[in-house]
Amino acid sequence: MSLKNVSPTKTLAWKALLSHFDSIKGSEIKNLLNNKNRIKDFTISNGDFLIDFSKNIINEETIELLLKLAEECDLENSINKQFEGDKINESENRAVLHTAVRSSKKNKIYVDGKNIIPEIKKTREKIKEFTNDILSGKIRGVTDKKITDIVNIGIGGSDLGPNMVIDALKFYRSKLNPHFISNIDGDHVHEVLEKLDSETTLFIVVSKTFTTQETISNAKVVREWLTSKLGPNSVKDHFAAVSSNIAEVEKFGIRKNYIFPMNDWVGGRFSVWSSVGLSVSLSIGFKNFEEFLNGAEIMDKHFQSSPLKNNMPVILGLISIWYNNFFKCETEAIIPYSEYLKKLPPYLQQAIMESNGKSVDRNGKKIKYQTGNIIWGNTGTNAQHAFFQLIHQGTKIIPCDFIGFKKALNKKNKQHDKLMSNFFAQSKALMMGKKLKQVEEEGKNNNKDFDTNPFRVFEGNKPSNTILIDKLTPSSLGSLIALFEHKIFVQGVIWNIFSYDQWGVELGKDLANNIHDQLNQNKIEKHDKSTEFLLKKYLKK
Ligand code: F6P
Repeated sequence: MSLKNVSPTKTLAWKALLSHFDSIKGSEIKNLLNNKNRIKDFTISNGDFLIDFSKNIINEETIELLLKLAEECDLENSINKQFEGDKINESENRAVLHTAVRSSKKNKIYVDGKNIIPEIKKTREKIKEFTNDILSGKIRGVTDKKITDIVNIGIGGSDLGPNMVIDALKFYRSKLNPHFISNIDGDHVHEVLEKLDSETTLFIVVSKTFTTQETISNAKVVREWLTSKLGPNSVKDHFAAVSSNIAEVEKFGIRKNYIFPMNDWVGGRFSVWSSVGLSVSLSIGFKNFEEFLNGAEIMDKHFQSSPLKNNMPVILGLISIWYNNFFKCETEAIIPYSEYLKKLPPYLQQAIMESNGKSVDRNGKKIKYQTGNIIWGNTGTNAQHAFFQLIHQGTKIIPCDFIGFKKALNKKNKQHDKLMSNFFAQSKALMMGKKLKQVEEEGKNNNKDFDTNPFRVFEGNKPSNTILIDKLTPSSLGSLIALFEHKIFVQGVIWNIFSYDQWGVELGKDLANNIHDQLNQNKIEKHDKSTEFLLKKYLKK
């Protein structure tokens, strides 16, 4: 059963939200905060997660209307359909079951009449065994040396997830050194290979399709490097693969028991929970990997069972729609206060923008309202010294998600309170601002020739959500990623789009292949004038 097809702008709630917007848009968050129930009503806790969404230009009526919108767009049924394995990715005729691969449930989920749970368990067991055997030294390289380094070769969802998670969970690392090759940039491949000892390195080629140009080209370069050092026989001991295209993997020369399957019901950008997480498991140990999956499942359960008004992904999704479609904000910033999470913004860029960057609705009709936001960000406090000026004093409203942890990881870390003081100060500063009167009272304007007071004013009233988590652990990271995944889904349902396809990446791939063929033949033809001009210049290097 597919998702219900409702145009959000045709709902009663949307119309009500439009007129409600006119009445609330000028309200000051700091005044709205005076409502005695504000904190109780505008915060949600679940386990070690707390979300405070009180610093937004919203009131009870806003939330009520947004929830009505969700109801009219059939959100609750849609959530169930996703978890039950309905083929909600209609444009690719696929179910969407990244939630199933991280589930600990013993129940059955059917795809095309087949219960997929036994297969999921089997793959997880294979990841466990392989991880343990590599870490213990039972599995070794062709010269019988212990594996010390692993290289994940993949791109997009086959890179960003493992890359981000391994970095985020550095504190929990096993003894293996992880490396990544994603871009089809020979210079980078060379830089990575130069650091490695072929005898102690395992390469994991991760590609759902096993046809992605970047990954296959890089894997071939690496294979050449390896065999030039250790001979053709070494491929079977130094290469593993994660893919749904087993035939192509075997053709590449990877041995059967080092192939980890992927299924078409797990999308690339949601696949870190599946075999794609093999490098994660190797890097942090299987036990921690399992904790990571369990953490995601905690958020899955919360999403599935909490009433919409106390549901973290639902509320975050709705608030984001409020700014995107009513305030016409174009972007959203994600600011984690942890260097461990510095790869979270680029990871979420793919997850969110590849999912909801769509302009055709589920009827195949051109959409007349805004959909996917532009996602960007960096870690605090670095971001404060880079782009926060624009968020504080620029002309745009940029809703921010602040993510912070109550506890530091390292016992020697004496600066956590300083870091977190910044975390709390920024959302407060964005909201409170500083009026001209206050600037004048402070009398900081010492320049007698030029009145600098107007430049010191902060308009304030800039919205943000605060996500406060107990500690960065494999489990809480799992929950955090799942939180954003479900937020993506909520928004896709309401915008009436298909969040799980990505046709928009195809055109560029086709054109690049065509251009590459022409470059090979030294024959540039049939382009627009600009491209032709540039290619001819390029050939003259
Ligand atoms: O180009 C986009 C994309 O299809 C992503 O959705 C995917 O994560 C990535 O390419 C890699 O694809 P594959 O795993 O098939 O190599």
